[in-house]
Amino acid sequence: MQSRVVIVGTGTNVGKTHVAAALIRALVSRRRGVVVGKPVESGVTDEHASDSALLTDAAGAPQVGPLYSFAKPVSPHRAARKAGVVIDVGNIVLWVAALGGELAVIETAGGLHSPLSEIATNLELVRALEPTALILVGADRLGTLHDVRGCMLALGPLAARTVVVLSAPEQVDQSSGTNASELIGLGWTELAITFPRADQASAGTTLAARFLADGIEPWLPPPAPHDDLLPGVSRISPPPITLRTPQPS
Ligand SMILES: Nc1ncnc2c1ncn2[C@@H]1O[C@H](COP(=O)(O)OP(=O)(O)O)[C@@H](O)[C@H]1O
Ligand SMILES: [Mg+2]
Repeated sequence: MQSRVVIVGTGTNVGKTHVAAALIRALVSRRRGVVVGKPVESGVTDEHASDSALLTDAAGAPQVGPLYSFAKPVSPHRAARKAGVVIDVGNIVLWVAALGGELAVIETAGGLHSPLSEIATNLELVRALEPTALILVGADRLGTLHDVRGCMLALGPLAARTVVVLSAPEQVDQSSGTNASELIGLGWTELAITFPRADQASAGTTLAARFLADGIEPWLPPPAPHDDLLPGVSRISPPPITLRTPQPS
């Protein structure tokens, strides 16, 4: 049975791929059977530098997809219309299922409300994918409180299995560094994790990705046992460190 972690954004260019790639690295180091995919991608001029390639690199797997790939750097529904293609949510669900694996990490294109077609946005796609866990990525800058709140309300019941991640923007502002704790203080999310402005290999990114993997772990089925361990030797996992809303005393 395939579990699904779906990465959505408050918008485009907020850090979805950056966070997804780091999370994939963290998950692959703990679990077997991690598969990755970006079913819809626009602005693909060099497939080796695409989001799809970055995700598969992180997983150490051969590149799969995207199912719908467009060169035009515009909203998927416009790129599809121009190409004479209709992006079909049902097809995407079948494509994701066909990736197999125990745990699929799927990055959506653009923001949660970005249109995929005349009748569907990423919100409809997310619902159809029936995610085990959702990661809502936004940039840690002014405006993100509004954007995250809007997305969480739209997600409805799925918000209960959503972790918010704020990725450090190139240009920080007065709100940067405060937004995660504000979101928790306002009661708009239970768990918010910030990613530093740093490359994939940095200790800060690796640590943030571990926190994120710990944050979604309770929703995931237990990892399949490692069959290469010696009999009688058990794996020791680091204790989960997560940032949660303090319970009222
Ligand atoms: N926390 C971060 N640290 C360093 N670079 C980042 C970070 N977040 C995003 N970026 C960079 O910003 C750009 C946009 O991020 P990306 O992950 O591609 O956004 P999205 O997938 O939401 O469109 C990329 O060049 C990415 O490497
Ligand atoms: Mg991306």
